[in-house]
Amino acid sequence: MTTVRLADYRPAPYLLSRTDLTVRLWADHAVVEAALAFAPNPAAAEPAPAPLRLAGVDLAVESLAIDGSPLGPSDIAKDAVGVTIHQPPQRPFVLQTRVRIAPHTNTTLEGLYVSGGLFTTQCEAEGFRRITLHPDRPDLLSRFRVRIEAEQASCPVLLCNGNCVETGHLEGGRHYAIWDDPFPKPSYLFALVAGDLEEVRQPFTTASGRTVQLRLHVEPGDRPYTGHAMASLQRAMRWDEQRYGLEYDLDEYNIVAVRHFNMGAMENKSLNIFNSKLVLADGETATDGELERIESVIAHEYFHNWTGNRITCRDWFQLSLKEGLTVFRDQSFTADLHGASLNRIENVAMLRNTQFREDAGPTAHPVQPDAYQAIDNFYTTTIYEKGAEVIRMLHTLLGEETFMQGMALYVSRLDGSAATCDDFVRAMEYAANEAWNTGGPTAEHPRFDFEQFRRWYHQAGTPVLQIQRHWDGERGELELHILQHTPATPGQPQKQPVVVPLAIGLVGQGGAPLTPRLDAETPEQAKASKLPVCWGHGSRLLVIDQAETRLRFTGLPSQHHPPALSLLRQFSAPVKLELGRPVAELVHLLAHDSDPLARWDAGQLLLRRAVLARSQGHGDGQLEDELVDAFARILSDPSLSQASRAVLLSLPGQAELEDAASDAGIAPDPPALFAAGQTLRQHLGQALASPLRQLLQDCQQQWALSWPEGQADRRLTGLIWNWRITAGDASVIEQARRAVDGASMSLARLALAALQCHDLPQRHSASAAFYARWQHKPVILDSWFALEASAPFGDGLARVQRLLEHPRYDPNAPNSVRAVLGGLAGNAPVFHASDGSGYRFMAEQIAALDQRNPITASRLAKVLSRWRSYGPERSATMRSALEQLAAAELSPNTREVVEQCLAD
Ligand code: PHE
Ligand code: ZN
Repeated sequence: MTTVRLADYRPAPYLLSRTDLTVRLWADHAVVEAALAFAPNPAAAEPAPAPLRLAGVDLAVESLAIDGSPLGPSDIAKDAVGVTIHQPPQRPFVLQTRVRIAPHTNTTLEGLYVSGGLFTTQCEAEGFRRITLHPDRPDLLSRFRVRIEAEQASCPVLLCNGNCVETGHLEGGRHYAIWDDPFPKPSYLFALVAGDLEEVRQPFTTASGRTVQLRLHVEPGDRPYTGHAMASLQRAMRWDEQRYGLEYDLDEYNIVAVRHFNMGAMENKSLNIFNSKLVLADGETATDGELERIESVIAHEYFHNWTGNRITCRDWFQLSLKEGLTVFRDQSFTADLHGASLNRIENVAMLRNTQFREDAGPTAHPVQPDAYQAIDNFYTTTIYEKGAEVIRMLHTLLGEETFMQGMALYVSRLDGSAATCDDFVRAMEYAANEAWNTGGPTAEHPRFDFEQFRRWYHQAGTPVLQIQRHWDGERGELELHILQHTPATPGQPQKQPVVVPLAIGLVGQGGAPLTPRLDAETPEQAKASKLPVCWGHGSRLLVIDQAETRLRFTGLPSQHHPPALSLLRQFSAPVKLELGRPVAELVHLLAHDSDPLARWDAGQLLLRRAVLARSQGHGDGQLEDELVDAFARILSDPSLSQASRAVLLSLPGQAELEDAASDAGIAPDPPALFAAGQTLRQHLGQALASPLRQLLQDCQQQWALSWPEGQADRRLTGLIWNWRITAGDASVIEQARRAVDGASMSLARLALAALQCHDLPQRHSASAAFYARWQHKPVILDSWFALEASAPFGDGLARVQRLLEHPRYDPNAPNSVRAVLGGLAGNAPVFHASDGSGYRFMAEQIAALDQRNPITASRLAKVLSRWRSYGPERSATMRSALEQLAAAELSPNTREVVEQCLAD
């Protein structure tokens, strides 16, 4: 397996101006003819004449010619992953090829494959080479013209990128369509779909008055479930016009829903292909959370039209250029539509449960990696979510206005090109310098060093700020001593300090914000305005960019205890904090912090401590009493929304609990942590019985409202059901059981989740009823598979085995695989059973899956990556499961992950 390195990047020796394809689809194979117009690249690195490398995987090459002259065996060299043409002409030329491929037996779901009778493609990152011989590198942008031929009866709909310029009939019941895409594009954005699809169409008028046809294509019978996706697309298009001034650029925009898909969705130019679970939905078939996710993924793919397609990536090391930026944009969209602070809290919870964990394990890598073996393994939460955090920090530091100037500059300079992450940063730097030279840095938008900021792209690992404070109660002076470090990650033993925007506040008695004077450490710092001198809305943004920083706040009221310290407001940087804040201080922040994120975080810290203490066999009674009192106040506080209540009372996720244990120097014991969470819920459910019952009645009034209305009440209902069922409340058990038969998918799923962990007759009848009702809807049935696989009682592995043999389980549908095996991985008592049976089972399943679908298998293999963080026994059994996997025959994708996991 070869390693690809960023340092080895060279411009292509031959430019490609056109890719002309004829794709003939048949009942058991396909034939692809290509004509590729090349010309020597004047900017090529190597001295001419360089060989021409074409990638090609699982292709039967039938012919190869240049300008009509066939190439002989001595002109070329073939290997398993492509063809090299030794001496191509040193003038413009056309390479003609014909290959035969087998879409019907392609279970990798890359390249051209068949899903439920539908021909469909997936080319990012390197799928195009499974369709035809091609350089298949993202820095080669060519104009595509594609002729598709297929049987009229089974494939009445023929779709490709761009505009349909011609259609017609052929002999033998066949027909064709020709598509032309006026925008030069890299091959990873190519898409083709052929099959029997129903269409929903709506016109959209752009800001400049052009009409775009929005077309959604779904399997026959699914038309009723397209309204939400269509409305979401229109909201996204409008938002991008209004916020970024970016308009759609073609006459049609197509979305196709397919059942078999490795990822969520794909932004192919004007022909997005979506995992059907991210299209088909209404209030009766999807939960509130799913509706919001669909809206955001539709928006994400649409936003890629500018950030990804018009401006694409020079090479795959720049993946975060399009993904981090586009996630940032979709997060802003959701925040604008549904409220910024709740959205931020959800994103932060997700970041901590996934990205922080990746950063702390063997697959940690920087936002801009410098080497990879299989690029598919780098579609990670680091590239996406941490990448978005890095963009967000730029936004925080620069402010909306300057950030938008940088964006405009980026778009205007780089439109139509293949760019790098650094091109983006440079556009922001230019805008910042303009702002700093004219208005100067301000208190809210301090100056910082861009060169140092770039370290966020190159250093892996989550930076840690260790904070100590010294309080002089007589003089009212607070000193902060902040040490910054980033733990070592594979290949990066030493780290340097990064630029951390740290938003802080001081919360006085009764919750009043305090705004003391800040004495800068050095006069230079003050002059550079790195330590701004005034407070906006009771918050202040500090730039912490040294390994060690000392700050002194003066003029605070003299009192015995220091004022409560609210840190990392709005989660201003993706870092961890280490500081001992006493329970009373956190309780104070949970009650009074004016920053919703910091307020939530104070509660999360208390909950983490409470769960950790219970998991070690000794609950912290005093802390729990404080929590009960604090939660009672939250439940009755009339100024709080139901949404805030739901968020403030939610327990941290299992992954976060495990990391919290590790951070506290305790080997995480997943079953014990899981059980501790359950008994804490039980305790809270009992101690808060009467306010919870009251609130449940209030929530119930709003159940029938349709999304987004009523969603907070439904979420809170689910939380109350969960706590009260854990506490054994018979009437709530009955209420939840009934909800499974009701008209709201959200309530049904919340009820199933609340009953999930209890071996009760109502749980089993609820599950059976849900199955009976939805067995013919695969997308919904997957949620049932996930529930069954994660039920933490009884014959765990045997149940999972039965699910894998279930007649409605589709081993070729990644959604179903992830439901069952992902469900198992999230089933702490079964997966982490101390005899290692869960790990062994998982390793066997991954090895088998890898034969069919390496991309899905290698993603799943990461569930075995954290073996080093567990105690000696678990660590040994998880490691031996990895070794068992390493001994199997593996794809390069899964091999890379397994080797990373086992590396010293
Ligand atoms: N580029 C897609 C997105 O983020 C994700 C994707 C990657 C889909 C690779 C398929 C294959 O929007
Ligand atoms: Zn994306």
